[in-house]
Amino acid sequence: MKNIQDIRQDFPILHQEIQGKPLIYFDNAATSQKPRSVIDSLNTYYTGMNANVHRGIHTLAERSTQAFEDTRELVRHFLNAQSIEEVIYTKGTTESLNLVASSYGQIAVNEGDEVIISTMEHHSNIVPWQLLCERKKAILKVIPINDKGELLFEEFEKLISERTKIVSVVHVSNTLGTINPVKKIIDTAHQFGAITVIDGAQATPHVEIDVQDLNADFYAFSGHKVYGPTGIGILYGKKKLLEQMPPYMGGGEMIKEVTFEKTTYNDLPYKFEAGTPNIGDAVALKNAIEFVLEIGRENIANHEQELLEYATQKLQEIPNLRIIGEANHKASVVSFVVDGVHSMDIGMMLDANGIAVRTGNHCTMPLMARFGIEGTVRASFAIYNTTEEIDRFVSELQRIIQVM
Ligand code: ALA
Repeated sequence: MKNIQDIRQDFPILHQEIQGKPLIYFDNAATSQKPRSVIDSLNTYYTGMNANVHRGIHTLAERSTQAFEDTRELVRHFLNAQSIEEVIYTKGTTESLNLVASSYGQIAVNEGDEVIISTMEHHSNIVPWQLLCERKKAILKVIPINDKGELLFEEFEKLISERTKIVSVVHVSNTLGTINPVKKIIDTAHQFGAITVIDGAQATPHVEIDVQDLNADFYAFSGHKVYGPTGIGILYGKKKLLEQMPPYMGGGEMIKEVTFEKTTYNDLPYKFEAGTPNIGDAVALKNAIEFVLEIGRENIANHEQELLEYATQKLQEIPNLRIIGEANHKASVVSFVVDGVHSMDIGMMLDANGIAVRTGNHCTMPLMARFGIEGTVRASFAIYNTTEEIDRFVSELQRIIQVM
């Protein structure tokens, strides 16, 4: 693997001062920074091949269609999906989850049926299911967690029944960093005839994903968390399910033939891609995935685990600081609260020293309620972060706590 200083050279944004101090970027769970290859790719796309896809016979249209479909093939490989028909472009994880809740929910969920999610879901994996359950008079059930922030599997086994139609859980918690045993959850759901939806937004940058090995029915992720552009995401779905599902949106591209009496729909995956897609960002997503594959997901995970362990140990030494989320299996996210100091104040004072973290409820209000807190300070690490940065972060934090 390239050394970390060389990897840092690939990220122009990291080499700047914020508030007169060298930037430390620890808000990677919100969005990761982009390597030069991704930034250059956007430029190359718009200066050399911008044209609409699947519509033109001219050279630019062929170039952009080819690049757009090349990314789809690489995503297929990245997730180990069986075919490109199972790889749908969306705006991001939120749209992917809404697509499944709306379209699969439409055919699979009826009055009295149940949908199961967990206490640690992001709002984007709660609200679409609430909307579905309201519409269908179905029941939403929630898997509880323990104080370490781990799912209580035996409680899940008590909740699931033949009435359960969908189990939708997060692979890696954005707030706690918990890595959930999704394979086991999927197996159990299938025993009851339920299908599974996995929110992979936080997992894809850290964990190797093999949708066939997991046997996931649906898997969602966002480009921007995995070193790619914003506004482009993926929904993986099993072909046999996608074929049964009605379109999510109507428009150009998703049709085969339109008359005023009847419309027939396009083949997969285009049936779910109405309108002009986000072509430029889809093209640059390929460079982001190449960046990840080139370093190797195992190498990324190992480096980030070192950072996580180092930061956790250092933070545990600070009096009155409580880490929220102490699961045995965690990705590189560390959330904490400090007695008597508001997380927002800590975030602002860290920023005044060039250190970017996220503060607040992290779009997981029910999870905050479970811990009886309003919010946390969250530091989340990526491949380009270093233990030296953690040292500076911890020493600034100690100083802030003393001042407050
Ligand atoms: N879901 C993103 C986060 O955790 C935005 O920060």
